[in-house]
Amino acid sequence: MSAASNNERLAGEPVSLWVATGGTTEYPGLRGDVEVDVAVIGGGIAGLTAALALKRAGRTVAVVETARVGTGVTGHTTGKVTSLQRLAYTELRDRHGTETARAYGQANEAALGHIADTVATEGIDCDFRRVANYTYAESDDALARVRAEADLAAEFGLPATFTTEVPLPFPVKGAVRFDGQAQLHAVKYLQGLARAVDGDGSFVFEGARAQDIQEGSPCVVSLEDGSVRARDVIVATNVPFGDHGLFEARSRAHRSYLVAGRVDTPPLDATFISVDEPMRSVLTVGIDGKSYMLAGGEGHPASEATDTAAHYRRLAAFARDRLGVDEVAYRWSTQDGIPLDGLPYVGLMSPDAKHVYVITGLRKWGLTNGTAAALILTATLTGRENQWAAVFNSNRSAPADSAKRPDEENPDATGKPAGQPARADLTPGEGTVIEVGGESTAVYRDPEGQVHAVSAVCTHLGCIVDFNPADVTWDCPCHGSRFATDGNVIQGPAVAALPPRPMP
Ligand SMILES: Cc1cc2nc3c(=O)[nH]c(=O)nc-3n(C[C@H](O)[C@H](O)[C@H](O)COP(=O)(O)OP(=O)(O)OC[C@H]3O[C@@H](n4cnc5c(N)ncnc54)[C@H](O)[C@@H]3O)c2cc1C
Ligand code: FES
Repeated sequence: MSAASNNERLAGEPVSLWVATGGTTEYPGLRGDVEVDVAVIGGGIAGLTAALALKRAGRTVAVVETARVGTGVTGHTTGKVTSLQRLAYTELRDRHGTETARAYGQANEAALGHIADTVATEGIDCDFRRVANYTYAESDDALARVRAEADLAAEFGLPATFTTEVPLPFPVKGAVRFDGQAQLHAVKYLQGLARAVDGDGSFVFEGARAQDIQEGSPCVVSLEDGSVRARDVIVATNVPFGDHGLFEARSRAHRSYLVAGRVDTPPLDATFISVDEPMRSVLTVGIDGKSYMLAGGEGHPASEATDTAAHYRRLAAFARDRLGVDEVAYRWSTQDGIPLDGLPYVGLMSPDAKHVYVITGLRKWGLTNGTAAALILTATLTGRENQWAAVFNSNRSAPADSAKRPDEENPDATGKPAGQPARADLTPGEGTVIEVGGESTAVYRDPEGQVHAVSAVCTHLGCIVDFNPADVTWDCPCHGSRFATDGNVIQGPAVAALPPRPMP
């Protein structure tokens, strides 16, 4: 895709509210070798929850995080902690049957309870608040669907009711309401988990990218300047690496966008998501005495190149017209794995693996799903039964349509760039892919006018990256890897940076 940037006309800092207000951590990198019971790769909700639960169960753990704790997908979430996930129960019942849908709900409710307990027992100051969560309907068709979802969820023993009293600032026809749900500041929560993990023979390492996993006795996780030796390894990197593509074929990276702006009213004791399209997700939060309204939506498969600035504009218009947000203060986007059959993947990395485990496919509900997944693996690694392990089993048979890979679906994504002329006239904030010396080169001119050139060939499987002018990233249309303009990996499955290229 070409690259004209409308960036300067988009309101708001291009950073997540949670990252902007969460402060940062400063754990050391790993130089040398450490030996622990369990190596956990990834300092997001899945990895840190597993690490702390395992430590509490008497295991030593080492969390290896390539960036900083909480700066991955979890730091870019909406912040709802809930077992009401739009119309998940109807969808899962239709696809997998009643018992699987019921078990999914129980696992998510248990995860919500685990988060509430952890906040209390570890004294984590993360703005955790109990709220009601609503899936609301504006059309008659959606109304019928929320009624059915409310009935089904109540039948599963979940805290569900149908209601026409919905505390949104605009009228709707009705909603499913789940009581006793929650929201939190995800970055602060993860920082609290990391604090509890580090020490007493357990470690958190930052700026530490796992590069390879050798399964054995022990397993060895290699990093640039060291290694972790452990009996078991949990790969909780959101998009797994070292899986030889097993999960890429069974889940799709799906992106969504969020905007947040100040409002004068205090935060509501409620969060919301629409059934009708375009889907909209709403949450209010108080941070440092200021109220913010968040609006999310505009989801699409990461393999589809779209006008990213237009997504932010539509969300800003929704926030202004329907939620009273005069000005967007923050805007951000992130992506999560949507499993093709609708259930997360939790368990051994492959049918042959014995000590390497994976958590992925959290279906954009990973605050609870990632927590449930971590508890399942904690049980597995400590020799206990977990009643939900079978439902989330990572080695269940793949759905029929998973044979098709995203790059096969999107043939334009591979091979050469689409014949764009070499351009010396990029204006500040623009990026484009051009041929330089016969090589596809991703060229970006920063706001100060300096040009940055890196290879445009994704280091995962060789597709050509696109410039995303609203987020100022290089995005791979094949399996969703994202790179900063200096080539560093923001999100996998790519593990290696885009190497620098000579200036055009
Ligand atoms: C727009 C959007 C809104 C969402 N809102 C909600 C919500 O309101 N409620 C909800 O429950 N869910 C929500 N989700 C989903 C939820 O945020 C995710 O499912 C969850 O945060 C994923 O957690 P994770 O631990 O898998 O990934 P991450 O938080 O990304 O953690 C993985 C970590 O691994 C690190 N890493 C990657 N590769 C390596 C490597 N090789 N070596 C070392 N470290 C590595 C990364 O830097 C990262 O920090 C949302 C998702 C999206 C896209
Ligand atoms: S080729 Fe797979 S993410 Fe780029």
